[in-house]
Amino acid sequence: MRSLLNYATVSLLAVPALAGPILSERAGNNQDRCNHDSPFKNVQIYANYRYATKLQQTINAFNAKGDAAGAAAAASLKTTPTFIWITWTQINYLEPQLLDAKAIQDETGQQQTIPLVVYNLPGRDCAALASQGELQLGSDGIPRYMTEFIDPIVSIIRRYASLRYVIVLEPDSLANLVTNMHIENCANAAATYKAGIAYAISQFQDKNVAVYLDIGHSNWLGWNSNLQPTAELFAEVKKWAGQRTNKFRGFISNVANYNAYNSTTPDKIYGPGPDNSNWNEWRFFRALTPYFTNFGLPTKFIVDQSRSGQINIRSSANSWCNVKGAGLGIRPTTDTGDCNVDAIVWVKPPGESDGTSNPDAVRYDALCGNADAFQPAPEAGDWNEAYIEMLIKNANPPF
Ligand SMILES: *[C@@H]1O[C@H](CO)[C@@H](O)[C@H](O)[C@H]1NC(C)=O
Repeated sequence: MRSLLNYATVSLLAVPALAGPILSERAGNNQDRCNHDSPFKNVQIYANYRYATKLQQTINAFNAKGDAAGAAAAASLKTTPTFIWITWTQINYLEPQLLDAKAIQDETGQQQTIPLVVYNLPGRDCAALASQGELQLGSDGIPRYMTEFIDPIVSIIRRYASLRYVIVLEPDSLANLVTNMHIENCANAAATYKAGIAYAISQFQDKNVAVYLDIGHSNWLGWNSNLQPTAELFAEVKKWAGQRTNKFRGFISNVANYNAYNSTTPDKIYGPGPDNSNWNEWRFFRALTPYFTNFGLPTKFIVDQSRSGQINIRSSANSWCNVKGAGLGIRPTTDTGDCNVDAIVWVKPPGESDGTSNPDAVRYDALCGNADAFQPAPEAGDWNEAYIEMLIKNANPPF
């Protein structure tokens, strides 16, 4: 087995209403012949105003340099949907965004779907430090997660029942249980993670909700020796969720990471085979599918590509922090070329830092000071202006 420390960051977001485009669907593309219960079909994914607000300084910065193309690219990101991250401290920001989405829906008549990341397990980020949460492991961890976090989110989204929701649950948590059980924090967190996620699955079951569980990424759980243990673990969690699993739609990979959806050559970080033949996210999905089928799990996928435009920019598979040379990747779309891939999405809001490069900071992670990490970089979630300008310049497909 391969152990990788890998984590998504908490996104701390800042506020103007804009409708995003309907995820592009070219006439006659594969999604039209797919069998459509996909929650992404014929809806507009809501582009939240808190992210749009942050982009204003980027537009201004490009304009100040006389770079009209850069400014136009940054402006287009205001209507590119990125996920809303809900952590312990972010619950209060949820409702204003739902109100905004509802107003857009009422005004335009276009169904709005809210993309959410639910990210607050007790003992979160067991293999690392940068994104550890507020809830601790221990006897009150799970009861508090249920009653003070999941239940309030369920009741808020029920108040906006005309909206739809796509929910990504707890990035990295179960993946850490597949490969990082030798780390004491992860072993100690295992029962809590399973119980918390099973509960969340069982509660996010309204008809306007679809849930995706996080499966790390191709260079983590995609190693052939990890496929079977991955399926076993997810099947166990599904079993813990009991009968209420109809809205458990599928899986998400590559959250806040840099792997390509379907590159034609392997990124050099995958190294020589033969165990790592699943060297992009699409290959990973294909490899997992028979295992998931055997274990009675769903076989639908979505994939984060917000910063996956460039490959061969990392010195090792462990590099996750503000990687230098990265570019924006494929824009959110349902045109995925595969009926089992519901959508390409942008979960990580590009421009929000993965972690600080200041070695004196409490949450400093050495990987954020790596030669391949962009520096200087602010604390996780804070806006990294120079970084977003680089991501725009390196976008692939380009603007
Ligand atoms: C991914 O790339 C391979 C090889 O280029 C191609 O055969 C396959 O159809 C692609 N998959 C998708 C979903 O586009």
